[in-house]
Amino acid sequence: MVKVRTENLKDIISIRQVNLAAFEQPIEADLVDKLRNSCKDIISLVAEEDGHIVGHILFTPVKVETKKGIDQGMGLAPMAVLPEYQKKGIGSKLIEKGIEELKNRKCPFVVVLGHSEYYPKFGFEVASMYGVRCKWEVPDEAFMIMILSDLDLSSFSGVVHFRSEFDEVA
Ligand SMILES: CC(C)(COP(=O)(O)OP(=O)(O)OC[C@H]1O[C@@H](n2cnc3c(N)ncnc32)[C@H](O)[C@@H]1OP(=O)(O)O)[C@@H](O)C(=O)NCCC(=O)NCCS
Repeated sequence: MVKVRTENLKDIISIRQVNLAAFEQPIEADLVDKLRNSCKDIISLVAEEDGHIVGHILFTPVKVETKKGIDQGMGLAPMAVLPEYQKKGIGSKLIEKGIEELKNRKCPFVVVLGHSEYYPKFGFEVASMYGVRCKWEVPDEAFMIMILSDLDLSSFSGVVHFRSEFDEVA
């Protein structure tokens, strides 16, 4: 039975291993470690099965420069499930729990850059529909957003800025 919960100090090495195995390179594992050290306002959840960490998801703060000022939300990245545990619904559980946590925190929106066939089933929409763009050049359908709570959509459009740590790997 998979349980999704907030990470704790004992999980850090396992989280690194999950990211290394899922992405087959150290970029995302390094990024997670950097963000954990530099940013206190993260949501980092693990999927645990029989005492083993088999999946991980991270949310970090993002800002949208709008006509009226700055709107703060969160960005989902990265997420990873151990290859041998993929396609069993663990990624879905991590996303659902993450969204629940974001709603509890009254986070107004969450963005994600990723597989355009994967994220819409959780309620993500193409961000350009809201006039929201990614600062990096990416395929339109790959940059998605979910509006979670009251947001003045009349002025909500602009460029999304992730934490600067992402620039180093973009
Ligand atoms: C993306 C990832 C986290 C999904 O985790 P998962 O546990 O396999 O996801 P789930 O089992 O909840 O998948 C749910 C559905 O999405 C589908 N799906 C999974 N990965 C997909 C992908 N890359 N593209 C499209 N659909 C995908 C599954 O087939 C499944 O479909 P179904 O519900 O119709 O059967 C996992 O595949 C992974 O770690 N990939 C490598 C790292 C990565 O690409 N991370 C995402 C970018 S940050």
